[in-house]
Amino acid sequence: MDKDKIKNYFWKNGYVVLRNIYNEEQIQRYRKFIKRNIEELVGEGQKSWKDIEIKENKDVLSYPELRDSILNKKLLDGIKSIFDDEDFYYWGYSSFRYNEKSYRSTHNDVKNDSENPFKTHYPLLRIGIYLQDHKNFSNGLKVFRESRHSFKYGRTLLKKIIKEKELRYLFPQRTKPINVDTMPGDVVIWNLRTCHSGNALRLKYLKNISLQPWAENFLQKYFPSIFLTTEKERAVIFSTFGKMGTPLKNFIKDNINHPEIFNSIKNSNFLEQNIVSESEKLGLKILDIEKIKNDI
Ligand SMILES: [Fe+2]
Repeated sequence: MDKDKIKNYFWKNGYVVLRNIYNEEQIQRYRKFIKRNIEELVGEGQKSWKDIEIKENKDVLSYPELRDSILNKKLLDGIKSIFDDEDFYYWGYSSFRYNEKSYRSTHNDVKNDSENPFKTHYPLLRIGIYLQDHKNFSNGLKVFRESRHSFKYGRTLLKKIIKEKELRYLFPQRTKPINVDTMPGDVVIWNLRTCHSGNALRLKYLKNISLQPWAENFLQKYFPSIFLTTEKERAVIFSTFGKMGTPLKNFIKDNINHPEIFNSIKNSNFLEQNIVSESEKLGLKILDIEKIKNDI
């Protein structure tokens, strides 16, 4: 996909897939590292994910084995075109998962979003590097195409809609769930306002039909055999990026208030000079949130 296509597809649909960003060696290296690292941290299944996130995990750039998953020119060029070729930032909010069984629910990832989502672009996005086949198997990402906010109206949004006399926004959005068909080596990028759900299930006989998460939860409980299984243990790398401005500052403010997120950022070493300069050479700006903490 060329630059304009990536940008237009992303802002229209709320997500975009970049294909073949990583080669076979990288895919295997990431899988192996994530598996080993998570098994070491979790031990014999003694600790919960929450403990790991609070005490031990670091950001993705802190691990040399995973660093080139983010510091990848094709990926960063794609993100840059989404952000109108302007500077964009990384502040250490990234992680990896192995075999995590997250609860399926329709949600979005914004924090302290105070603008009208129907009228403004939210300048934060997340990438998901799913390291197994989700075209022919389950457990990939489900996105609600063209969704602009979560189906639950927050108080801020309701007030805004009423104040701006834009009552038409009170009608439900017409959005369509899609089970994203990523293959190993692909990256899915979604806007933080886009509704989505994890561990999506794919039907065996109607592979391209995407169900609502509540229906997946229900059907899996009573008719599990109608769904395809997972190809391999689900290994994923996530990272968040944003353009500078009030939405980014509001988001970081929320990160600071959550110890499980803020501690992992503080434990990381992505602020080391060699990592910062390598990132900046590729067009990725690194933000030290300790330094801006008092201004936000
Ligand atoms: Fe999410």
